[in-house]
Amino acid sequence: MKFFVDTADITDIKDLAATGLVDGVTTNPSLVAKSGHANFIDLIKEICKIVPGPVSAEVGATEYEQMLEEGLYLAKLAKNVAVKVPLTPAGLKVCKHLSEQGTMVNVTLCFSAAQAILAAKAGATFVSPFVGRLDDIGESGMQLIADICQIYNSYPNFKTEVLVASVRSPQHVVQAALLGAGVATCPPSVIRQLFAHPLTDKGLAQFVADWAKCGQKILPGKAA
Ligand code: G3P
Repeated sequence: MKFFVDTADITDIKDLAATGLVDGVTTNPSLVAKSGHANFIDLIKEICKIVPGPVSAEVGATEYEQMLEEGLYLAKLAKNVAVKVPLTPAGLKVCKHLSEQGTMVNVTLCFSAAQAILAAKAGATFVSPFVGRLDDIGESGMQLIADICQIYNSYPNFKTEVLVASVRSPQHVVQAALLGAGVATCPPSVIRQLFAHPLTDKGLAQFVADWAKCGQKILPGKAA
């Protein structure tokens, strides 16, 4: 399973990329606004240099012609840009055009299995179902992931990867992994939570104390 970080915050991206466990980045207009970065194009170029994997950069237009123009422009910023388009008729038309010319496309704002089928037919590299936002309205985000994975697995000609988005907790990540989803894009806080367990902290404190007590060292010439 691949982990993408869902943020436009350069400090967080650098910090998490240093773990070696981040395979890509997803941004969206809300995350860009939150980052306070004044120049979206420079921001995407900078992220693409930090993380070699796919970096999703979302179009701002909603009409086909301008969306395509923006997508073509974004695609030229770096080899690892994945153009992000909304799951609308115009977005899927742009997806088909860009996919056919070899550009990665992430189709976002997916809330139904029917929409996910359309994204795959349009040649999307990734489809982004928003699990947290479905949970928020009393529906099951994970049931949607299960449905999409089952459908995609039935059609080997569908090459689209399920990119689980709107992730709110480590449980979402684990459930997505159990269902075989290819990617989870997580806010930095959720990625950090993945590392954590109280018994890990407790066990490590005990090991450190016992190691100090036994007075041994591993590296010759260095303090224990
Ligand atoms: O990147 C899109 C998605 O992950 C947004 O999540 O928390 O705003 O629903 P959220």
